[in-house]
Amino acid sequence: MKNITVLVSGSGSNLQRIIDCIDSGEISNAKVSLVVADRDCYALERAENHQIPHQLIKRGKDFSENLEKLLPKNTDLIVLAGFLSILSKEFCEKYNRKIINIHPALLPKFGGKGMWGHHVHEAVIEAQEKESGATVHFVTSGIDEGEIILQGKFSIDENETPETLAQKVHQIEYEIFPKAIDKILNKN
Ligand code: GAR
Repeated sequence: MKNITVLVSGSGSNLQRIIDCIDSGEISNAKVSLVVADRDCYALERAENHQIPHQLIKRGKDFSENLEKLLPKNTDLIVLAGFLSILSKEFCEKYNRKIINIHPALLPKFGGKGMWGHHVHEAVIEAQEKESGATVHFVTSGIDEGEIILQGKFSIDENETPETLAQKVHQIEYEIFPKAIDKILNKN
């Protein structure tokens, strides 16, 4: 059985999808053993509803150090599912290729500092992009720069708004995130 720790900051609909896909077998041989939030958020309630151990670690410069103290020793994969803090260089290096993130755009475009949530969708519309999507990638100390594992995309409509884009991106995320997690955990 592979053990996943999920880091969250928001509504946690991707966390929900991961939980549901473990239940349905779309992600096989895995368990969410811990959910950690860097702020009070609805994702913590989802963990509570599923009797998954969960913790709030206040965001700030000691976050990564405090996370390391809590992280179960048998953790196989750390999954950033709508997580908005930046993990320290030391943490990223120690857990090299064991941390993955979902980003709400087609990296390497629209990534980096400040590019999260609605900021990404606003920038994509502003740039008059023809398509958008989501990217699952390994986490390194360079923000949104790690190797890409999986992407999904769709075309942008003429009257698209940041809100409609966010919905479409979420739908794509729900498809590719479980696939990427299963692939990484069960590739051997
Ligand atoms: C997702 O769209 C995710 O890609 C994005 O936040 C949303 C979280 O939704 N993450 C980032 O912007 C990180 N840079 P959720 O809480 O419902 O899963």
